[in-house]
Amino acid sequence: MNPAEHHRPLETYFDNAIPTQAPVRSGPELSIIVPTFNERENIAELIGRLVVCLGDRSWEVVFVDDDSPDGTADLVREHAVADSRVRCVQRIGRRGLSSACVEGMLATTAPYLAVIDSDLQHDERLLPQMLDILRQGDSDIVVGSRYAPGGDIGDWDARRARMSRFAMRLSRVLVPAELTDPMSGFFMMRRSVLDGSVHRLSAIGFKILTDVFASFPQPLRFKELPYRFRVRRAGQSKLDSVTVWDYVMLLLDKMIGRWIPVRFLAFSIVGAMGVAVHFAVLTLCLQGLHSGFVAGQAVATLCAMTFNYAVNNVLTYRDMRLRGLRWLRGWASFVLACSIGGIANLGVASTVYGLGHGWFPSAFAGILVGAVWNYGVTMMLTWGRARK
Ligand code: GDD
Ligand code: MN
Repeated sequence: MNPAEHHRPLETYFDNAIPTQAPVRSGPELSIIVPTFNERENIAELIGRLVVCLGDRSWEVVFVDDDSPDGTADLVREHAVADSRVRCVQRIGRRGLSSACVEGMLATTAPYLAVIDSDLQHDERLLPQMLDILRQGDSDIVVGSRYAPGGDIGDWDARRARMSRFAMRLSRVLVPAELTDPMSGFFMMRRSVLDGSVHRLSAIGFKILTDVFASFPQPLRFKELPYRFRVRRAGQSKLDSVTVWDYVMLLLDKMIGRWIPVRFLAFSIVGAMGVAVHFAVLTLCLQGLHSGFVAGQAVATLCAMTFNYAVNNVLTYRDMRLRGLRWLRGWASFVLACSIGGIANLGVASTVYGLGHGWFPSAFAGILVGAVWNYGVTMMLTWGRARK
């Protein structure tokens, strides 16, 4: 690039501006997005390695931190004071690797965008090569792959390796078969790929690459570079068994999200489990404790609501999970909203029944209206205010 292009003269902003000699730097060519949660101990090392491997290329690194209790964001800002290539986006009351990556990308302007983990498990030395490949112009995205010839999953235990292979098979419905590592969290793409997919991205869970491939309207032209998945440098992995649930939700959102919001689906699945809890508790009250029916029904209802609330908080609203005092407040609003939902259910069911329809369609109509009410109201009342 011509160095003169780095400097936009002041006159081009204001008609009567006095020209200055202060250097104006153009935006970077490459933005590297790094999602972080409790990664304080890895920040300096990662920045150091990026500085070394990217040399005098034009780049920036954007850490997207979900308000880590260990103060990752503060540390990133300390680095940013000394080096303007380092930036920080801090999100409050939110969690999620994919959504963090998307918001990080949207906070940049670079024509090339990379995503890499902060814990140094991905091989940052591939970044310059990824950039060179994209610059050649015949690929949209370059993926770091653990499964391409020459790649390696490193020291994974058998369970994690099995889980990864299973997830990979599931993803085949959405991504091309030739992509050897659709679960990869390490890749670089042209900005046009973001522009073309961003309005359709589900941004659920961990698998941002699968999401991008499934959301882009045309098949993406991709290349893969093998690398060895390294051992996490410091801190702990955030991947847990609920990540699998998130992944299934991502796949469902991609397949049926156009018609049914997946959160509603998740909410309904949890609701159905709640019915089982209700009957179990009711049976216990009636047969085990010999309580009266109304008392048993009341206890069972409260237990089922509490169960639904707790499970929805962990699964359906994992990204906005309530904790501590907010958990209690959330519980109260959930029970209140669902009690009104119960009344609505009864009202609708008895009206439909009164119109001469059978018990089954009447009950179904009542349940549907109650579920939609509960979903809508608790979304706003219980979790919608999670940030406050
Ligand atoms: N902002 C934000 N919010 N960052 C998060 C969150 C979150 O809720 N959860 C995890 N991260 C960050 C971590 O701090 C880390 O930098 C990165 O995302 C990866 O998290 P790990 O917990 O280290 O995941 P992993 O090593 O088990 O799996 C990773 O690598 C795999 C292979 O590429 C992930 O990137 C997987 O998606 C990927 O398949
Ligand atoms: Mn990791």
